Amino acid sequence: MTIIIINFKTYKKGKEVLKLVRIIEKINKNIIVGLIPLDIKEISKKTKLKVFSQYLSDDIKEIKGSASGVFLNHSDHPLTFNKLKKSISLCKKNKLKTAVFTTSLREARKIEKLKPTYLIYEPKELIGGKISVSQAKPEIIRKFKDNLSMTFLVGAGIKTSKDIKTALDLGSSGIAISSVIMKSRNPEGKLKELIGSVTSSKAKYYYDI
Ligand code: G3P
Repeated sequence: MTIIIINFKTYKKGKEVLKLVRIIEKINKNIIVGLIPLDIKEISKKTKLKVFSQYLSDDIKEIKGSASGVFLNHSDHPLTFNKLKKSISLCKKNKLKTAVFTTSLREARKIEKLKPTYLIYEPKELIGGKISVSQAKPEIIRKFKDNLSMTFLVGAGIKTSKDIKTALDLGSSGIAISSVIMKSRNPEGKLKELIGSVTSSKAKYYYDI
């Protein structure tokens, strides 16, 4: 199964968050969305999507029982390795899944030992940019595949279905995206263009999500 993460970051506010969540849910219910802790409780009640917190705030109660999981060590919220280790174990105790981001294979190999639910490679300098991880770092994606035992996702600068296809062909099990959807005037059309399309009579997906 291809795993798709859509990180809302702080692009959307108030009612716009639920509006976009509804659009995504209509396209595919297995997509993981990353929201700020403040939005988790309300939005989780209203969607079947898997809602992850974009980081672990000081008070885990803010998301416990409503979020499916937490992003850890994203470039927007980097953690020391020690803090990451403690955060993963705290999440596990609280039945929260963990999606841990990394900027290098070296770090990924250490993170793998902590057994997170998901591991995502995102080169920091490509995040929000025009060139995708698939175009800029194909050899590193391949190295992730060859050197890790666990499956991994990739993200940063992904803008086209070709970027996604390349990432999957190189060995990743999914992708993490943000600006391509958040900045689109037609997020529904853009997401369908990226991951597939659904018509009323028959569903056609490029990927098994
Ligand atoms: O977590 C996903 C995000 O960091 C990637 O951002 O805008 O490059 O798709 P973007």
